[in-house]
Amino acid sequence: MIKQAIIPLAGLGTRLLPLTSVFAKELLPINGKPGIEYILDECIEAGIKEVIFVISKKKIMIKNYFYNDKFYKDIIKKKKDPRIVNEYKKILKYKKMIKFVFQDKPLGTGDAVLKTMRFIKDKYFLMLLPDDLIIKKNCSKSMIAIHKKFNSSVMASMSVHKKEVARWGIYNVKKKIDNANFIIKSVVEKPNPKHAPSNKAVIGRYILPKTIFNKLKNLKPGKGGEIHITDAIELLINDNEKFIGHKFFGKYLDCGTMKGYINSTMEIAKI
Ligand code: UTP
Repeated sequence: MIKQAIIPLAGLGTRLLPLTSVFAKELLPINGKPGIEYILDECIEAGIKEVIFVISKKKIMIKNYFYNDKFYKDIIKKKKDPRIVNEYKKILKYKKMIKFVFQDKPLGTGDAVLKTMRFIKDKYFLMLLPDDLIIKKNCSKSMIAIHKKFNSSVMASMSVHKKEVARWGIYNVKKKIDNANFIIKSVVEKPNPKHAPSNKAVIGRYILPKTIFNKLKNLKPGKGGEIHITDAIELLINDNEKFIGHKFFGKYLDCGTMKGYINSTMEIAKI
């Protein structure tokens, strides 16, 4: 069973400046609710029991958001507002399941994941990138079902426009299992459109084996000088770890760019 999830939150969020100059992008409201709560709800519904947040000193407000008990207690005593009581109960429920780990420098997603090594108990864990919201169908839940069926690693996947492949990790297919699931032959981070192996992109949901830490420990910086989780995954594939690309059925919202962030509120408001 997959019981633990890692959420890297220590990036700088430069694409959302100026909103992120003093504010954590994961707390920005999407239709009146912080983006990170959508991700936590997806985890809970998928059966995850423990979530490990990778934050930095600059993102300490994320921890403060879940540890503001005295403030809530004082307000509730004074106002006795049932809405606030419910919000506080929800925060307490989240807080119970979150552990915090620090990444001092934003060296890349691979380095962020490496920081959680000592906390991972089982053979496989879930990793979610919070900029990628997937609504209408729980992507993590579907991926856990695929993992169970094939006893393999899984990555969420979506076909993107050929011109846009340089924004994503892109993989090519070794074998088609069915219309939604593909055994991956290799994966490359942000390829040049001229040399991209396909237009199948990896979206921010991964079921990864604990053995990835052995690769991450020795990984050198790749594209853009960052340590990418994709590069460690490619090394595992070369060692015959089975990775399945799962074409998810939900709707993808890219909340990491200004245009996407604004659009995400409009899309969620429609539901
Ligand atoms: P991104 O590189 O897509 O986003 O990281 P970013 O760095 O936050 O924002 P931009 O690119 O400057 O606009 C994907 C996820 O990985 C986390 C980020 O917080 C984001 O959730 N991350 C990234 C880390 O935790 N550590 C890192 O070193 C890099």
